[in-house]
Amino acid sequence: MSQLTPKEPRQVAHDLIHHAYAPPAGFDAPQVAVHKASTVIFKDVAALRVRDWRYKTGYTYGLHGTPTTFTLEERIATLEGALHCLLVPSGLAAVVLVDMALLSAGDEVLLPVNVYGPSREFARHELARWGVTHRLYDPMDAAGLAALITPATKLIWLEAPGSITMEFPDLPALAAVARAHGVTSALDNTWGAGLAFNGFELGADVVMQALTKFPSGGGDVLMGSVCTRDDALHERLKLTHMRSGMGVAANDAELVLRSLASLALRYEAQDRCARVLAAWLQGRPEVLRVLHPALEGSPGHRFWGAHCTQAAGLFSVLMDDRFSAAQVDAFVDALRLFKIGYSWAGPVSLVVPYDLVQLRPGPQAEDMRGHLVRFSMGLEEPAALQQDLQQALTSVFS
Ligand SMILES: Cc1ncc(COP(=O)(O)O)c(C=O)c1O
Repeated sequence: MSQLTPKEPRQVAHDLIHHAYAPPAGFDAPQVAVHKASTVIFKDVAALRVRDWRYKTGYTYGLHGTPTTFTLEERIATLEGALHCLLVPSGLAAVVLVDMALLSAGDEVLLPVNVYGPSREFARHELARWGVTHRLYDPMDAAGLAALITPATKLIWLEAPGSITMEFPDLPALAAVARAHGVTSALDNTWGAGLAFNGFELGADVVMQALTKFPSGGGDVLMGSVCTRDDALHERLKLTHMRSGMGVAANDAELVLRSLASLALRYEAQDRCARVLAAWLQGRPEVLRVLHPALEGSPGHRFWGAHCTQAAGLFSVLMDDRFSAAQVDAFVDALRLFKIGYSWAGPVSLVVPYDLVQLRPGPQAEDMRGHLVRFSMGLEEPAALQQDLQQALTSVFS
């Protein structure tokens, strides 16, 4: 099964561009057609009775897939090195689908303490109402994770690096703990995008992505994916997907299909840019620390080095705590090219200041102090972005 062999990012890029696709007869264009439908017509009652919406043996209803969405699912499966893929309307919907499909009343889910915030909120509210408990674990402590597992533990979420604070965990060690205890592991692979490392090779059972970020790359579409290599797991996810109406629209699928061909190029450019700026910021007197997994001294740098070939164009800085929060806000306001906004991986560079205490209530790690500002690289020239940072730092702090 060639799609299960680990691939280099360049090979993945090639495979996405030259992905098998059968155009309509007599119209041999490589671009995938946009098929839109709610209703799909059956030729007769026998055809209607025979077609099963759970399998890709035929089309039944737009919500359950069209040639356009099935093609995108196949390409995302190629990207992740998966056998199966389901598309959902956002990255958060992908998290929710995994939780809904794999958890029942009385179960417990373990989340890394630096998990994507809305994933934790879903656990705190909806999962709690449905009788599913959750606990947080330190992703930098695999033994600590093992100690938390009980017979009720049915799902362990993994994320690399952690949202906003960017700690890169020893993913194979965490996944091995889950496997040794017979617990399913699900990886949020939005940062790795299927390029920096392969989530399945590192041991995850389910790999989801916010396609909203790198695969879309345009800052103009919301979508998520849930991939597996396991037929039985896929079946459970697929049935919940069907029963919860999580289909995606053809025009959105088209946008992601169009962007996939340039995914590897954009990822590489944003990675390069982030490393230039992160290294430069690390030398600035206003900055206590830069959190970027590829930088020496960043939490989990050695695990990043052991398992990754690339890094996403994303990092956080801890501004010196001799400054007030208002000064740091003024610095963010003074940036001109970096726009203030959530998300990452679009063409425009973005910045968001975060309150560390609000982000992660409770005692902070010794080396996690100061004011956290998260930067996401767009596609601008690194030199222009550096100049922007310089003028904002100078105007506010000198
Ligand atoms: C790590 C991570 N996972 C999931 C999501 C959710 O993606 P979406 O915005 O498509 O819901 C995000 C969005 O910021 C994210 O950063």
